Amino acid sequence: MKVLVIGSGGREYAIGSALSKDPAVEKIWFAPGNGATDALGENLSLSAYDELAAFAKREGIDLTIVGPEAPLVGGIVDVFEKEGLTIFGPSAQAAQLEGSKIFMKNFLARHKIPTARYLETDSFEKAERFIESLEAPIVVKADGLCAGKGVIIAPTREEAKEAARGMLSGEAFGEAGSRIVVEEFLDGYELSVFAVCDGKEYVVLPAAQDHKRLLDGDRGPNTGGMGAYAPTPLIDETLYRKLDERVIRPTLAGMEEEGMPFKGVLFIGVMVVGGEPYILEYNVRFGDPECEVLMPLLKSPASELFYKAATGRLSEARIEFHDRYAVGVVMASKNYPYKSSEPAEIIVDAIHHEDLAANSTIAYAGVSRGDDGKLYATGGRVLVCVGLGDSIREARDRAYMLVGQVHFAGKQCRTDIAYQALQE
Ligand code: AMP
Ligand code: GLY
Repeated sequence: MKVLVIGSGGREYAIGSALSKDPAVEKIWFAPGNGATDALGENLSLSAYDELAAFAKREGIDLTIVGPEAPLVGGIVDVFEKEGLTIFGPSAQAAQLEGSKIFMKNFLARHKIPTARYLETDSFEKAERFIESLEAPIVVKADGLCAGKGVIIAPTREEAKEAARGMLSGEAFGEAGSRIVVEEFLDGYELSVFAVCDGKEYVVLPAAQDHKRLLDGDRGPNTGGMGAYAPTPLIDETLYRKLDERVIRPTLAGMEEEGMPFKGVLFIGVMVVGGEPYILEYNVRFGDPECEVLMPLLKSPASELFYKAATGRLSEARIEFHDRYAVGVVMASKNYPYKSSEPAEIIVDAIHHEDLAANSTIAYAGVSRGDDGKLYATGGRVLVCVGLGDSIREARDRAYMLVGQVHFAGKQCRTDIAYQALQE
């Protein structure tokens, strides 16, 4: 099978890495890929959807997998499908679950899926009135995609109003903030739950937990995610069942009923409050760095999961996961998440420890290959060190041993990934 992976991050590297171990996969292309994906396949510099589709036709690509949300919301799946190509990901219409917070909140309300109480509006007066009715902290969200920055958790009503004003005036996020969602703050713990869907059927992957804040102890600014682990013990059979019955099934049935069956990864951002799941958000793609810990846990061939889902035949697939744990620690560059950093050469020490070599892996993200052939850290989140083990502690220890083997100027990482699972 020939596979094309769209995207350039650690998520796409991890997907490529899983595919590269699959005997059914003959060749992998990445568009655009990064400075390390070229070791797994071939990087392409195409980005226009029609050019990518023409390439896929010409090369006889059997399956295209879309990593990031932007091309999904932009309609890449529709372009490929019009050409009769097989592609893993939702249509532009279905991708609104991530592309528009208002679409998502109204969908949840229509299908009685539990979520925070909210108001959607383009009027500052209405936002202000609703803010007055809520207890602080208060959450204010821009409707459109803002590269993960469109959510403000305001500690006071005044700051919530300020955030609403900034968004509605267009100052904060331009057009993406011309409509907003104001909602109550949910106080609980967060989970990332992923369901791979084929339009009707779905497979739920081991639940993961991300660490969004920059610093240990969940302090500092929000980031794209500084580390993740799976499966998390913060979910049990009862909670899985509640999620299945109250969230995943009604979502897929609702999408089908509304004429936009969901195919691809449904990423459910869950807040668990008092044992009950509430939906914070949907994303229509894998989380990053969650994907980097989930892919190494996949036991059955990666092509089987993606291809069967893309062709509406998940019920024929036997998807299995290793009965193990994975912990991923993000190594970021010096100025992340504030501004870009000087490129820094990456050196990975040879791993002589057999046990570590066999139970760890690096997913490369913000890296480029220099003219000198060396690998440089050129992005914010540079790479993810993933450790595997029979317990979270063992996986965590291996991930941090691997971190110790990786060097680049200005590197930073959290030292407490998976702490919520390791608390006594
Ligand atoms: P979102 O993009 O909607 O997931 O928001 C980004 C992050 O903001 C989430 O991962 C949560 O940590 C936080 N967040 C969003 N909505 C709420 C809420 N209603 N209550 C508490 N935290 C929230
Ligand atoms: N790790 C969270 C995200 O990818 O949105």
